[in-house]
Amino acid sequence: MTILTIETTPIEGQKPGTSGLRKKTKVFMEKNFLENYVQSIFDGIGGVEGKSLVVGGDGRYFNDSAIQIILRMAAANGAALIIVGQNGLLSTPAASHLIRINGTDGGLILSASHNPGGPDADFGLKYNTPNGGPAAEGVTDKIFAATTTIKEYKITHTPDIDLSKLGNQAIGPMKIKVIDPVADYAALMEELFDFPAIKTLFASGFRIRFDAMHAITGPYATEILEKTLGAAPGSVVNAVPSPTFGNGHPDPNPIWAKELVDAMMAPDAPDFGAASDGDGDRNMIMGRGIYVTPSDSLALLAAHARCAPAYEDGLLGVARSMPTSAAVDRVAERLGIEAFETPTGWKFFGNLLDAGRVTICGEESAGTGSTHVREKDGLWAVLLWLNILATTRKSVSDMMAQHWADYGRNYYSRHDFEDIESEKANALFSTLRDNLPSLKGQSFGALTVAEATEFAYDDPVDGSHSAAQGLIITFNGGARAVLRLSGTGTVGATLRLYLEALETDPALLHQDPQEALADVIDAAHAIARIEEFTGRSGPDVIT
Ligand code: G1P
Ligand code: ZN
Repeated sequence: MTILTIETTPIEGQKPGTSGLRKKTKVFMEKNFLENYVQSIFDGIGGVEGKSLVVGGDGRYFNDSAIQIILRMAAANGAALIIVGQNGLLSTPAASHLIRINGTDGGLILSASHNPGGPDADFGLKYNTPNGGPAAEGVTDKIFAATTTIKEYKITHTPDIDLSKLGNQAIGPMKIKVIDPVADYAALMEELFDFPAIKTLFASGFRIRFDAMHAITGPYATEILEKTLGAAPGSVVNAVPSPTFGNGHPDPNPIWAKELVDAMMAPDAPDFGAASDGDGDRNMIMGRGIYVTPSDSLALLAAHARCAPAYEDGLLGVARSMPTSAAVDRVAERLGIEAFETPTGWKFFGNLLDAGRVTICGEESAGTGSTHVREKDGLWAVLLWLNILATTRKSVSDMMAQHWADYGRNYYSRHDFEDIESEKANALFSTLRDNLPSLKGQSFGALTVAEATEFAYDDPVDGSHSAAQGLIITFNGGARAVLRLSGTGTVGATLRLYLEALETDPALLHQDPQEALADVIDAAHAIARIEEFTGRSGPDVIT
């Protein structure tokens, strides 16, 4: 085995964002870009000599070649063992699980999640720590620091590994174990949930449509839902992963999963609909004629988790990201358990999960998960829903109506203004930040500002402080608007405006969310002067 030491210089823009490093695929393919970043991950975590890693990705364009480079670099840097999914494929939650059950020193996940894939689309890479979760800021800061001082990287001069072949291979002394990407994950799901009850549900004629959006969950969903649980063949659609996700946008929301929405709103709709994203960690939940917002789904799952064997003793606590609606807080209050509010990004749940403070957590961006792994998990959410429906034998819309009657309804929506020039977005943001102290008491249309603050988080487990995590404007009566700039985009800036209002009047629980939120939307536009700064009067995407 020949080891080459290649001289290089730092490349700008290798700062990990909300979830690892995401760039245009072509940028990742530029000379030394991937190599610099991989070497910086290795250097940032104190080297990989003698270490073991899980490696896999969502199968998007460049996944296969990037993995070959990573394998050669790991070997050259002295790694002992790499566990890699067959054909380089692993869903993000499956990768998290493999890190945990094999006790590896972490893993590298190749994905840009719900961003499109292809030569002109997006690529990404992130390092997960030995707990199976995305590296916390302390680690990503070290990785970033390494990218700014890098002088050389190491790589072997060896042929590609045949990743279609299950079993053991090697590069010099480094062992490479190619494993079935689905098997261990499927076994975990069977431990968590009441599979016999779900089988009985399907046997009774219950119909599901699971849209894998041409992405990684296709093989997982086909194996678990159709082969093991007995959903009718063809229940999983768009089930074959493709490097460009069928030229689609693998983001499970009503805009990009419109095919699913149309099917679920049709007169002959199945009983349950779901979709997952590029790397399998997100979920979208629908019933016949109803879309369930991620915030409501989180609340409902928390309220009924005890239906599943894994959670039958109850929940330790729950956590949600700050922009996620407070619906789950109301459930926690009734259950008498703690509810945490964290910054956006799954990495902030890691400490709470590790410390046994929470069992279930979630984000408004279609991410839900639990202690079973340290990533959000799309199929897990689908299976927990199915377990709950198998136990209660109620429809999704009846479950939601009951939930709102019991707890009130947190009307919720997110408005995204995409691809704004960064300077304009930054100007809007800094002006609003400066204006926060003066907003209290001012009225905007029907609403008066009760409080305006910038969110900061003190991690209750390790005491770390995260500043500048979003601007919150709360109105008298409890409605609120939150503004953040996205940390996962690859072009320009995306302004996210999150809107929420609690309704407890039984007569007002079934409105159109955009109508129920109209006053908050108007007030937020007036306060942030969105049109003045961005030239946009309305959002590009509403979820
Ligand atoms: C987005 C979501 C956030 C999620 C992240 C990674 O980040 O909003 O909840 O954790 O993707 O999947 P953002 O682009 O808002 O920074
Ligand atoms: Zn994802």
